[in-house]
Amino acid sequence: MTAVTATTADIFRPALHYAARNTWLNDPNGLIHHEGIYHLYYQNNPLDNVWGNMSWGHAISTDLLTWTERPVAISCDETEDIFSGSVVFDRHNTSGFGNDSRAPLVAVYTSAFKRASAREGIQAQSLAYSLDGGYTWTKHTGNPVLDRGSANFRDPKVFRYDGDAGSYWVMVAVEAQDFKVVLYKSDDLKGWELLSSFGPANATGGEWECPDLFPLPVDGDPDNLKWVLIVNLNPGGPNNGSAGQYFVGDFDGTKFTSVSTVTEGLQDPARLAEYQWLDWGRDYYAAVSFSDAPDNRRLMIGWMNNWEYANEIPTSPWRSPMSLVREVSLRTIDGNLRMVQQVAADLTSLREQGPSFSLAAVEISDGQHVLDGAAGNVQRIDLSFAPGNAEEFGIVVRGNGAVGTRIGIRPTEGSIIVDRRESGQTDFHESFASIDTAPIRTTDGSYELAVYVDRCSVEVFAQGGQVTLTELIFPPATGNDVSLYAVAGTATINNLSVTQYA
Ligand code: FRU
Repeated sequence: MTAVTATTADIFRPALHYAARNTWLNDPNGLIHHEGIYHLYYQNNPLDNVWGNMSWGHAISTDLLTWTERPVAISCDETEDIFSGSVVFDRHNTSGFGNDSRAPLVAVYTSAFKRASAREGIQAQSLAYSLDGGYTWTKHTGNPVLDRGSANFRDPKVFRYDGDAGSYWVMVAVEAQDFKVVLYKSDDLKGWELLSSFGPANATGGEWECPDLFPLPVDGDPDNLKWVLIVNLNPGGPNNGSAGQYFVGDFDGTKFTSVSTVTEGLQDPARLAEYQWLDWGRDYYAAVSFSDAPDNRRLMIGWMNNWEYANEIPTSPWRSPMSLVREVSLRTIDGNLRMVQQVAADLTSLREQGPSFSLAAVEISDGQHVLDGAAGNVQRIDLSFAPGNAEEFGIVVRGNGAVGTRIGIRPTEGSIIVDRRESGQTDFHESFASIDTAPIRTTDGSYELAVYVDRCSVEVFAQGGQVTLTELIFPPATGNDVSLYAVAGTATINNLSVTQYA
C-alpha cells in the first residue's frame, strides 16, 4: 500500500460531510435506502489518495449526516476497474441471485476492462449481488451483461419502471463522447434490450457521464408527474470544469422527451446560462439519486470536487468530500419547471456548539464588517437581504482579515457570486482561484440565502433552493470570522442567524 500518512492537524476534514478516512473518492455510486440504512458506495482508490485502482468504497448512515466507513464493497482486479453504477433491491428475485430466505441487492456497474482482459479498453455493464443487505458482494460469473463494444459506455443507473408500458427494469447509461444517454430495458437485470437514446442537447462541452432518470410531482401534486433526466458532464460546466445539467420532460417507458431543451445538438458556450444546472458552483459533480428513499423523497448526493484539480486539492490523508444529501423537488417558476433543492438531513438533531448568533433589520454600510460572536468553521448561516444602493452585498465566511470567501448578490446584474480568489490556499492548481456566478431572480425584492460552511466547503442555497452553488475552500485554521459587506453603497439585512455545529 502506498504510504498515506495522517497530518497532525487535519484542518480540512469536514464535520457534516462524508470523506473517506485515508483514501481517495470520487462519484457516489449505488445509493440506496435498504432495511433502515442509507448506503453510500463510491468510486474509491483503496490504496491511495489519488484516482486509481477504482473500486466501490462503502459508508452507511441512518440520519444522512453521520456516516460510518465500511470495508471496500467491490474491488478492482487485474482484469477490470469497477467504475460508476447503481444498486437496486431485486425484491422479486428477477435476477435469480436470491435464495429462499433472501432477495438480493444487485449492483450494476461499469467494468472498465484492463490489459489482462480480452476486452481491454472496452467499457461494459456488469453485475454483483449481495445477500447480506449490502455489506459483501459477489461478482456475477456471466459478466459483462451488456457490451456494445464501446470504449465510453458507462455509469448505468437502473430503476424499476411500473407504468402504462408495463413493469420492467430500465437502465440509463451514457455514450460519453457522443453526448448521448442510452436507455435499455430488462426483465432479469441480465438480458438488456435497447429502448432509445437522448442527446446531444444543451451543454456538450465535455463528456456526458453519470445520468439519472426519475419522476417528481410538479408543485407537490402526486397526480401530475414529470420526469427529470440528469446528465453530468466534464468539462463544460457553467463556471468551468465538471457540473451537472438536467432536463425536465416525459418518459413513456421507452423514450424520454424533454420539454426544457434549449438547443439540440449545438455546442454553444454562450448559452450555458440558459440551461438548467443542478449546481452552479465548481464542486458538485456526478450527482445521482438514492433508490428506495423513504416517503417518496428524491435524495441526491454529488461529489464535492472538480476534475480540473481533483487530484491536487490539499487534503490529507483523504481526498474529496461528498456533498450534503439534498432533497430535490420540481416547482413551476415563471411558467418553467425547475428543480429546487434543500438539505435533506435534519440538522436540528445535531448538538449545537457555542451560542447562536442573530441580527435583524440592520443596514450594512459600505465596506466589510466583522460580526463579533458569529465566528466558526462548521456553521449554518441563514440570512435575508434587501438591496439598497450597493452594487454588491453579501457575507464573507472563513475570514481573518487577510483571507475570506465572499458570497454576494449583484442586484442590478441579477447574479449571485462565490468568490474564492482570496479563500486561503489556492495555488495548488491554476484554475482553482475563481469567482463563480449564477443568475438569480427575486419576486419581492429580497434575497434569501442558506449557507452551510463545513471547514473546507461552502454550499449556498439561494432563494429557497432555486439556485445552489457548492465550492471547496482551503482557509487557514485562523480564518473563522463571518462578516457582512457592501460595495459602493448600502444594503439591509432583514434577518440573519448563525448556528454553530463544531
Ligand atoms: C465521473 C467518472 C465516471 C466513471 C468514473 C471513474 O466522474 O469519470 O464516468 O465511471 O468517474 O472513476
